[in-house]
Amino acid sequence: MSPDPRKVNRRRFLRSAGRWTAAVAGVAGLYAWRIEPHWLEIVERDMPLANLPANLAGKRVVHLTDIHVSRVVDQAYLERAFDQVAELDPDVVLVTGDLMTAKATEQIPSVLSLFNRLDPDQRCIVVTPGNHDYCRFVSQHGVVSSLFEQLGRMGVHGLRNQRMEYDGLQIVGCDEWMAGRFNIRVALDEYDPSRPAIAMTHNPDTVDYAGWEDYRGWILAGHTHGGQCRLPYFGAPIIPIRNRLYTAGEVKLDDRRTLYVGRGLGYTRRVRFLCSPEITVFRLTQMA
Ligand SMILES: [Fe+2]
Repeated sequence: MSPDPRKVNRRRFLRSAGRWTAAVAGVAGLYAWRIEPHWLEIVERDMPLANLPANLAGKRVVHLTDIHVSRVVDQAYLERAFDQVAELDPDVVLVTGDLMTAKATEQIPSVLSLFNRLDPDQRCIVVTPGNHDYCRFVSQHGVVSSLFEQLGRMGVHGLRNQRMEYDGLQIVGCDEWMAGRFNIRVALDEYDPSRPAIAMTHNPDTVDYAGWEDYRGWILAGHTHGGQCRLPYFGAPIIPIRNRLYTAGEVKLDDRRTLYVGRGLGYTRRVRFLCSPEITVFRLTQMA
């Protein structure tokens, strides 16, 4: 008895569909592993600020976040990324944490060599810590102190619940929430709401904590890596924050504050899909 031709056709179709699915999954996996983690996008946008002094109009501020210097992230890729930032010749570079993924201080020399490529004597560079800078269990406060001290000797400003001035612009830097060190009230001590400001915090959920009441201006953050992998129509399945609105990009919080969450340069696992790494270049403009 000859086999039922409908069953044979169905078997052939399923076999062929299985092969195609495996091939597409293989190509997507290869792309997410080998290509997109280093497919750097330069995002350019305006940053309108109220009461901006004339001398600051048109100045360019680069935002970097989540560099994750480590054995996992290709150092040559990070060097190329920092060289690209140097070529952009920004006036200010703001880095919102997770400079490294480390057990202790072993990655600090590699972090320093990256920042050296930005010519800290030529521009204002400011960093704040992220949870990974505190190493295991987010508890090694001495490592962050050592990292920031060595960056400071190079001319890089480290802010931990502190505020500084750049030509009439207030830069406010928060310490890391997961380390129990976030304190926006201390960071905003002597802050003047009548003058322009940019705040830096690693974890974007912290914009909802008490203490920001008088603040008006931009807040730069990271931590999410944009989700690292996104699915069409669904978004990122895994996000390490509570408020999914803060996954990536610009979020208008209210009349006074605008949040920008960068997708980051590095990764903790080498995989990115529909969420490429990012260097953000802001141009300061007078708010209408
Ligand atoms: Fe990170």
